[in-house]
Amino acid sequence: MKFFLDTADTQELRQAVATGLADGVTTNPSLIAKTGRKLDDVVREITEIVDGPISVETLSLDADGMYKEGKTFAAMHKNIVVKCPLTEAGLAATKRLSGEGIPVNVTLCFSANQALLAAKAGAAYISPFVGRLDDVGQDGLVLIEDILQIYEIYGFQTEVLAASLRHPLHVHQCALAGAHVGTFPFKVFQQLFKHPLTDIGLAKFMEDWKKSQS
Ligand code: E4P
Repeated sequence: MKFFLDTADTQELRQAVATGLADGVTTNPSLIAKTGRKLDDVVREITEIVDGPISVETLSLDADGMYKEGKTFAAMHKNIVVKCPLTEAGLAATKRLSGEGIPVNVTLCFSANQALLAAKAGAAYISPFVGRLDDVGQDGLVLIEDILQIYEIYGFQTEVLAASLRHPLHVHQCALAGAHVGTFPFKVFQQLFKHPLTDIGLAKFMEDWKKSQS
């Protein structure tokens, strides 16, 4: 399972990349807006930090606009993945961009049928939002499992990028389901390393070692 960091905070990204375990980045307009910086500046800095797929979302709502923005983003760096929303216009833009060899991450997916459409449009990634489905009382994990099954049946190459993962259990469950990628905030990334028994065990090893040396 590849780990993408769901952030536009370059400080966080530097820390995550230093572990050698961050495979890529996803951003969205809310995350870019939170930085208070210009989109181009943030994206360029991210390309210098991370050597892996970096999703950058279009802001137009029409297919032509998304296509043009996608072309501009893709020209910025070889690792850019254009993120298009799962709308009719978004999938039309996906079809055009994918047809030109530009990878697209189709975002805001909340149903298996939407994921089927995205795969048919040639998306490189589909982003089902697990946490946001959980928020409205629907089991986000079931959607991940259904999409993986459908893609397997038809041999689609589109990778399932489990998004809106809010806590370590989401990561665990999506890994178990076989999601190709999980994207989550830096806080969740840090939580993945932790277990109280690891801390207790390490403290005891160090204490015993120190005693033996005195
Ligand atoms: C994915 O690409 C989205 O940016 C993200 O995972 C959304 O997460 P949220 O629902 O926690 O905002």
